Amino acid sequence: MALWSGRFETGVSEFTQEFGASLMVDKAMYKQDIAGSKAHATMLARQGVISEADRDAIVSGLDQIQADIEAGNFEFDINNEDIHMSIEKVLTERIGDAGARLHTGRSRNDQVITDTRLYAKELADELMAANLKLRRTLVRVAEENFDTILPGYTHLQHAQPVLLSHHFLAYFWQLTRDFKRLSAAKDAADLNPLGSAALAGTTYPLDRSFTTEMLGFAGTITNSLDAVSDRDFLLDLDYACAVSMIHLSRLCEEIILWSTSEFGFITLSDAFSTGSSIMPQKKNPDFAELIRGKSGRVVGDLVALLVTCKSLPLAYNKDLQEDKEGVIDACKTLYDCLVCMEGMIATCAINADAMMEQAKKGYLAATDVADYLAKKGLPFRKAHEVVGHLVLLCDKRGCDLDDLTLEDFKAESDLFESDITQCLDLKSIVAARTTFGGTGNEAVAEQLELAKKTLASDEA
Ligand code: ARG
Repeated sequence: MALWSGRFETGVSEFTQEFGASLMVDKAMYKQDIAGSKAHATMLARQGVISEADRDAIVSGLDQIQADIEAGNFEFDINNEDIHMSIEKVLTERIGDAGARLHTGRSRNDQVITDTRLYAKELADELMAANLKLRRTLVRVAEENFDTILPGYTHLQHAQPVLLSHHFLAYFWQLTRDFKRLSAAKDAADLNPLGSAALAGTTYPLDRSFTTEMLGFAGTITNSLDAVSDRDFLLDLDYACAVSMIHLSRLCEEIILWSTSEFGFITLSDAFSTGSSIMPQKKNPDFAELIRGKSGRVVGDLVALLVTCKSLPLAYNKDLQEDKEGVIDACKTLYDCLVCMEGMIATCAINADAMMEQAKKGYLAATDVADYLAKKGLPFRKAHEVVGHLVLLCDKRGCDLDDLTLEDFKAESDLFESDITQCLDLKSIVAARTTFGGTGNEAVAEQLELAKKTLASDEA
């Protein structure tokens, strides 16, 4: 019989027992449940609600249960709806009345959300550590390939040359924002709901600040109804995971494109590639595709929780039991994807020659030739048109801008002098982009330093 079976004459069917249970999901929070119960019992004894002997029996009983769970010696019985009832039931079987006093002044409604908040903090910490590791690798790869030039794209068409280091650092900053979002979600979780009981607080003289401190929360939730109903911090965590997965999916898309024979910009290591069961020559970027695919799942986790919370009246409703599965899935998925991405980036070979080869195609110097004229006084719009004519000429001849003679240039504008060749050189084009945040070597060196500083402060 369930711990609440007093007012019932018959039990639920086996099917509904299993249907209503959350144990298989929330047993992941056993450590948090035990910590919450130890804090509650310690506080009850301090307040004179239970005896010190009861407290000692509860605390050592819970320690033993934790050791049993960790040693694989604890039977998770689906007849106990969730981790809270599982642990309390076994505790009471083992220590008798002291165990039956543990739930004084507490409800599973404040218990579950206390556990979930503690667990969310731990999940956020793990994700932040994996995020930092990937960002560190991006910085390293950017530094090691600092001067490598590749075509920058808009509309997936060649646009202007950029440094590969600049390109990788763009992802570094995306992930830096993800780190902030994870950290904000952790802060949102970091408040103590324990002591709110079912919804209205209790008649016992609970010291909520004591459990706040003992459990390491940053503060105590002010409204008991809000405390047991609020799942915003899980939405924050889901959202942080979803956005980070979107970022990874974008990086994956480039990894997939870059490892095609058409691009050939990178070669994934064998450890991050798979073959085909029929085509012996194949080397597929499966893991990048898988991460890209998993982004859909994590976005789904966010949407599912948003809809679960929509229109829910105060205070606790059983709908809320659906909150944990998606969040755990989102966090576990993002964690694995961050680890996989780090390995993939750390081990891939960069084919700088292929990048340079492509950078020579598609008139990447055109903007700089127009700037050359504008700097000599021609209004930029007019300069743009002159260079448009030169590009058309190249198109017709099947050549590039640097195949044109000075006469060809002069035929379009007599402002052109022999120094135009400088504007056609990819290295000078890149280096000339000196604005803060631009792709010029000096600007990127400055950016790299800022990235390292940000990384160091996030690590600290
Ligand atoms: N298993 C429940 C959950 O995860 C615990 C809270 C149940 N409270 C209740 N009044 N039925 O949400």
